[in-house]
Amino acid sequence: MPACKRYRGELIGLVALAVVTATGAVSAAYLTHRDDLDDKDRARVATIVAPATSFGAAEPFERMSAGAATANARPNNNAFSFPLGNLSFGGETDFKLGNGLFKKVWVSSPSSTQASDGLGPLFNARACQRCHLKDGRGRPPLDTNEAAVSMFLRLSVPPRTDAEREALASKATLRIPEPTYGGQLQNFAVQGIPAEGTMTIDYEDVPVTLNGGETVVLRKPTYDIADLGYGPIDPDVMLSPRVASPMIGVGLLEAIHPGDILARADPDDVDGDGISGKASMVRDPETGELTLGRFGWKASTPTIKAQTADAFSGDIGISTPLVTPAFGECTTAQAICRDAPSGVQDRLGPVEAPDPILDLVTFYSRNVGVPPRRDIDDPQVLEGKALFYDFGCASCHAPKYVTSRDAPQPEHRFHLIWPYTDLLLHDMGEGLADGRPVGDASGSEWRTAPLWGIGLTETVSGHTFLLHDGRARNLLEAVLWHGGEAQAARDAVVAATPDERAALIRFLESL
Ligand code: HEC
Ligand code: HEC
Repeated sequence: MPACKRYRGELIGLVALAVVTATGAVSAAYLTHRDDLDDKDRARVATIVAPATSFGAAEPFERMSAGAATANARPNNNAFSFPLGNLSFGGETDFKLGNGLFKKVWVSSPSSTQASDGLGPLFNARACQRCHLKDGRGRPPLDTNEAAVSMFLRLSVPPRTDAEREALASKATLRIPEPTYGGQLQNFAVQGIPAEGTMTIDYEDVPVTLNGGETVVLRKPTYDIADLGYGPIDPDVMLSPRVASPMIGVGLLEAIHPGDILARADPDDVDGDGISGKASMVRDPETGELTLGRFGWKASTPTIKAQTADAFSGDIGISTPLVTPAFGECTTAQAICRDAPSGVQDRLGPVEAPDPILDLVTFYSRNVGVPPRRDIDDPQVLEGKALFYDFGCASCHAPKYVTSRDAPQPEHRFHLIWPYTDLLLHDMGEGLADGRPVGDASGSEWRTAPLWGIGLTETVSGHTFLLHDGRARNLLEAVLWHGGEAQAARDAVVAATPDERAALIRFLESL
C-alpha cells in the first residue's frame, strides 16, 4: 500500500466511484435510508461497504481504518493520541487546547489556582487522562493493594414506585440511582469528606478446553463494595463494572448515519440467524428528543458532548453547562458532601467549568484519530480475516461504513471507516451479564465493542485487559467469554484448529 499521504482530502469519493465502475452497477434503492446521499452516491456507498467476499488480498483502502481521517500515527505508545489526519489547522489548535484540558488535573476548592478548582467532592479521578491514559483503555486493579483508578462501578436499584416506573418508561431516566450512593461509586473524596467505598473483585478460575488440547483458564469476577462511607447500601443494589474505553475515532462513530445502524437492528431476529441486535434509544440531554445511544459499554449516551459532561460530573465532580450541580454526584442523603465548598466563581458564571471548557474537551474527544492498520497483506492476517467472517464475528462487529455527508464537522464527512461494530446491543449470555438493566439494555446486553486499534492495546496501554470490566487478559480470552447471541461464533473458535485460532488472533492484532 502506498503511504497514507496519498489518501488525504476528497479522494475517497473518487475511489468509491472507481470501485463501482469495476464491479458494475448497484441498485440505488439499496440504501434508501441514506437521506444524506443522492442516488449515485447511494450506489457507490452500497458497493464499497458490502461485506468482503474474497480474502486472497486486502481490500482497497483497508489500511486506512478511518479513510482520509486516519491519524498520521506510528504504532508506538502515542498511537492513540494523534488528531484525525485531515483536521484543519484551526482544528489542530482547538485539539491542542482540548487536549490540555483533557489532561488537566483538577484540585479541590477553595484553592489558590482558582481556574482549576471544583474537584469532587466525590470523584473517581482528577483528570480525564487518568482513566483514558494515552487515550487508551483502563484496566482493573492488578491486586488488592492497588486502588481502582481507570475503572468504576455503576449503581442502581429496581424501580419501586409508579413515578419511578413512569420515569423509566418515558426514558426521562435510564436507571434509578441507589438512594444514598447515587448512580456511580466514587472511591475518592476531597479532604474532610468520606469516600463512598472501595470496589472489591474476587476472581474464580473457569477452565475451557479447546480443540487441539489446549486449556485456557478464564477468570470470572464477582464484585462487591467494602468500606462503605455513608452507611448501609440498598440490599437490592445492582453493580455494573466498567473500565474506561479507548478514545480513538469516537467522533467518526458519532458521524455514522443513524439509518446505517438502525438498518442492522433485528430485535426479534426476524431473519432467524440467531443474532438480533437492538438499538439503544435514549434522550439527548440538550434537546430532550429520543435518539440513538452510541457511547459507553451499553450505548447509554447519545453524543460525545453528553458523555463528556457526564464524565466531568460523575467521574471528576466538575459541573458544566450541561450537568450543572456543583456537588456532582452527591445525593440528598450525603449532606456533608452537598454542603462542601464548590469551585463556582461568580465572575465566571454558575458552573465550575464554564464555556468554552466543555466544548473544547468535546472537540478534542471528537477528533482523536484512529491509527492505520498493520500487516493487512500478510497471508495469516488474511486467513484470520476470512475466519472472522466465517465464524460470524462480522455479523455484530460490522467492518465498514461511509460516514454521513451531513456530519456537523466537515472533517467527519463521507469517509470510509472500519470500526468493526454495529453499535447495537446484543445479549452476550449469563457469563458476561452484570444483571443491571439500563434503558433498553438488559442485564446481559452490551454494545458491540469497536475493534479498531485493538491490536495496539498493549503498545499504548501497557496491558491487554479486555471487555467491559477488563476480565479478559488477552484477545483469545475476550472471544471465549462471548455467549448468548455470540455463542455460535465462540463455539466455532473453540472448535477451530490451533492454526486457525492463531490466524484469527493475528487478524485482530492487525486492527
Ligand atoms: C474515572 C475514570 C474516568 C474518567 C476520569 C473519565 N472517563 Fe471517560 N470513560 C470511563 C468509563 C468507565 C467509560 C465507559 C462508560 C460506560 O460504559 O458507561 C468511559 C467512556 C468514555 C467515552 C465513550 C467512549 C466510547 O467508545 O463509548 C468518552 C468519549 C469519554 N469517556 C470521554 C471522557 C472525557 C472527555 C473525560 C473527562 C471529562 C473522561 N472521559 C473522564 C472512565 C473515565
Ligand atoms: C452477537 C454479537 C457478537 C458476535 C457474533 C461477536 N461479538 Fe465480539 N463483542 C460483542 C460485544 C457485545 C462485545 C462487548 C462485550 C463486553 O464487553 O462484555 C464484544 C467484545 C469483543 C472483543 C473485546 C473488545 C474490547 O474492547 O474489549 C473482542 C476482541 C471481540 N469481541 C472479538 C470477537 C470475535 C473474534 C468474534 C467472532 C469469533 C466476535 N467477537 C463475535 C459482540 C459480538
